[in-house]
Amino acid sequence: EMPRFKLNTGQYIPAVGLGTWQAKPGEVGEAVKYAIKVGYRHIDCAKAYGNEKEIGDALQELFKEGIVTRGDLWITSKLWSHPDDVPLALAGSVQDLQCDYLDLYLMHWPVALKKGAQGTAPEDFAPLDTKATWQAMEKCYEKGDKTKAIGISNFSVEKTKALLSYAKVVPAVNQVECHPMWQQKKLHDFLYSQGIHLTAYSPIGSGGSWFTKHVKVLEHPVLQSLAKKYNKTPAQIALRWNIEMGHSVLPKSTNPERIKENLHIFDFKISEEDLKLFDKIEQVRLLRGDDLWVNDTTSPYKTVEELWDGEI
Ligand code: A2P
Repeated sequence: EMPRFKLNTGQYIPAVGLGTWQAKPGEVGEAVKYAIKVGYRHIDCAKAYGNEKEIGDALQELFKEGIVTRGDLWITSKLWSHPDDVPLALAGSVQDLQCDYLDLYLMHWPVALKKGAQGTAPEDFAPLDTKATWQAMEKCYEKGDKTKAIGISNFSVEKTKALLSYAKVVPAVNQVECHPMWQQKKLHDFLYSQGIHLTAYSPIGSGGSWFTKHVKVLEHPVLQSLAKKYNKTPAQIALRWNIEMGHSVLPKSTNPERIKENLHIFDFKISEEDLKLFDKIEQVRLLRGDDLWVNDTTSPYKTVEELWDGEI
């Protein structure tokens, strides 16, 4: 039985979910089927990943084969739309994923798109109106048929605070980059003081991704030495660290061995003493966003400092 964390909605989110960002078409469906067969119960998706249809087909196969039922699974997706298009965007993801409803729907980034736009090119962006977007998401939540919880992603402390000043529904989750080399201590303390759960993306440091540049989280000496001590891999140490912090984790893999490896983190604990070793690890944000939507024409953010409110 997969450990779970309780959310402010009363629901329980499975501690490990399969990440699907950058999982290639033709591979992601197989990865989802394999993961669920070996015990995953949580799949993290997003409209902007461009692979929700293939994931939906994989889920249908699993349901038809009787491997799991919809109720056994936790499915997250993320909004990528204009504030006026929120109900349409939600219905679209539910339709593509062929899953009746989502367990969690997140505002993917503090950005907004033009009406009808779906891409990530500069001309797709509209001026940001987080309040209108969140209020539209609250309406979907209150209707209750298409998503069981709502939340945010890539929100700094400051942006989360601003949202809480008008929110009627407190976000259940803020999904952000989090791993031993970007521990998010300030954000963690703020979120947990507000009853908001932190879900960690890139929890093993996204080894090999275009944005990680020269930083190799899994090669860090603290992870290497603890891996030897606990007879685990550095990836399992990184994942377990997030679990000890109370965060759910979304390791992405399309490789069967690594999909299994990333789930097998519940037969050991990192001791209090060893957790202190993480305090000395130098911190570096890997996914800074400067290649994504920081620009001086169409983005609400001219600099990465504005996007993250200095948490960089
Ligand atoms: P692959 O899909 O070939 O397994 P993150 O979830 O932090 O973004 O990291 C995902 C990246 O790390 C992908 O490149 C993935 O490649 C790789 N990866 C996933 N699991 C492991 C693991 N257990 N050990 C090493 N690399 C991994």
